[in-house]
Amino acid sequence: MSINLEVNVGGLVMKNPVTVGSGTFAYGQEYNSYFDVSRLGAVTTKSLSLKPRAGNKPPRLVETPAGMLNAIGLQNVGIEAYLRDKAPWLREHNCTIIGNIYGYSPEEYAELARRLEAEGAADAIEANLSCPNVHDARTARGCTLVAQDPEQVQRYTEAIRAATKLPLFIKLSPNVIDIAESALAAEAAGADGLSLINTLLGIGINPETRRPILSNIVGGLSGPAIRPVAVKLVWDAARAVKIPIIGMGGICNANDALQFILAGATAVAVGCYTFRKPDAAMDVVNGMEDYCRRHGVEKITDLIGAMEMQ
Ligand SMILES: Cc1cc2nc3c(=O)[nH]c(=O)nc-3n(C[C@H](O)[C@H](O)[C@H](O)COP(=O)(O)O)c2cc1C
Repeated sequence: MSINLEVNVGGLVMKNPVTVGSGTFAYGQEYNSYFDVSRLGAVTTKSLSLKPRAGNKPPRLVETPAGMLNAIGLQNVGIEAYLRDKAPWLREHNCTIIGNIYGYSPEEYAELARRLEAEGAADAIEANLSCPNVHDARTARGCTLVAQDPEQVQRYTEAIRAATKLPLFIKLSPNVIDIAESALAAEAAGADGLSLINTLLGIGINPETRRPILSNIVGGLSGPAIRPVAVKLVWDAARAVKIPIIGMGGICNANDALQFILAGATAVAVGCYTFRKPDAAMDVVNGMEDYCRRHGVEKITDLIGAMEMQ
């Protein structure tokens, strides 16, 4: 029986529903010695900004009982170096590219999207409106993420939409009361899809020193601990909007990934589990195919939102 794993995420055709979480897979090339990264449905880049960023001071990453807390602070090479040094390799290796972008204003996001499209350096744009650790927690009290304010989500999405014809995905935050509000705002402003979830806000403190473990104090929690939260938010969002969803949060294997698809996601991303097993995303592709074979499912799209509720 031949299995069709192809999905169409808001105009982006992926040969299978599996990509990687932005920031956990660098720019793709770095992982090609572990497996042929072009076999993924898409490679999602680290968030790209207009200027290179060094990120936060260390310590900026700590292991937690079922995942990790990070405050990398969007370290990245910047759009120019990406276009010059990274995108050509991805293109030569026939990778489908989701270019993840981060800016400080709607205009910066728009400019980044425009550059990626003009240079043919992405097949879709994922706008990170939900990075929890780019503000100094000592001074940024009460500072909200764009994704926490539906009006801002709408304003930013409209600006990026006007700048590009590429499929546009808005990456949302779990740190909200009602995910449907930000999801609907992105949809109304012309997004072609949603990516969720970004990390959950967290703090670790060392009692011996009485100091925060991360130099930024606040970090983003990822990994298996957040998976049930992520599946629930994908389920909530999928019932609120018509546009497709890329689900992520604690995916380690195909069973984890299938939970997201059954909850309503069209595609999935493997995030920090790649740090433990660099080819985890490929395991998910193979495991999905195996699941479909065992269950007589001919097309993976038949499983989208197919959770049975008795
Ligand atoms: C070390 C690290 C760096 C990350 N950097 C980014 C980033 O630059 N842009 C972004 O949109 N998300 C970033 N994320 C969030 C992930 O893409 C993903 O949404 C989140 O970690 C949940 O998935 P996971 O539990 O499988 O890791 C980062 C996550 C981690 C662990």
